[in-house]
Amino acid sequence: MGGKARKAPIVETAPRPLVLALPKGRILERSVEIFGKAGYDLSPVLSKSRKLIRDCGPLQVWILRSSDVPTYVHHGAADLGVVGSDVLREQSFELYEPLDLGIGRCQMVVAERASAPVDERALAHLRIVSKYPRITRRYLESRGLTAEIIKLSGSVELGPITGLSDRIVDITETGETLRQNGLEIVDTVMEISTRLVVNQASLKLRGREIAPLLERLAELVV
Ligand code: PRP
Repeated sequence: MGGKARKAPIVETAPRPLVLALPKGRILERSVEIFGKAGYDLSPVLSKSRKLIRDCGPLQVWILRSSDVPTYVHHGAADLGVVGSDVLREQSFELYEPLDLGIGRCQMVVAERASAPVDERALAHLRIVSKYPRITRRYLESRGLTAEIIKLSGSVELGPITGLSDRIVDITETGETLRQNGLEIVDTVMEISTRLVVNQASLKLRGREIAPLLERLAELVV
């Protein structure tokens, strides 16, 4: 059997949308707002639903715990992510971080009971609770202090009140949680803001879609 070799049929595959990982919680609404101003309508993200994947035109949004956003972007499952610099500094992924979105500004602080201040240099055994043990460790080292760091997952302010710890290292935005739990700030560890992170391979392979998105967001945050 001679003849011409058959041409392989052309299979048209629809381009997959860019995947944007957004964190649950207080940053979610602010992210929708800033992407909206940049011309990307993420309003399906705000509809009441338990769906973790929301189709928003050229972007598909995955709604994650903030601490998981870097993992999804690092491994390339998500192309882009929005996450606080607190989470980024606590984790060891080296992600491309082209933009400070200027939202979610807050501080990471050291706090203790207003009624029971501790002498950090006199105490033989200082205990600190935090959701950020690595940042806390680096902070202590930079100050020449030693302490036992106990990792918690939330409601950190309970630590000194219940006797679990002497101090906390945690984020504060309005200061209300500290105030209502009788704690006061003794030092600032770092300023925090929300960053856009981009997977390196996505940036190369889908730069034509990602570059305009970065440009439009950048114009909003200068
Ligand atoms: C964060 C943080 C503080 C609180 C500070 O907790 O850990 O507890 O917000 O905010 P404020 O200064 O405006 O009062 P989050 O609400 O994320 O809950 P969590 O305690 O479960 O981590």
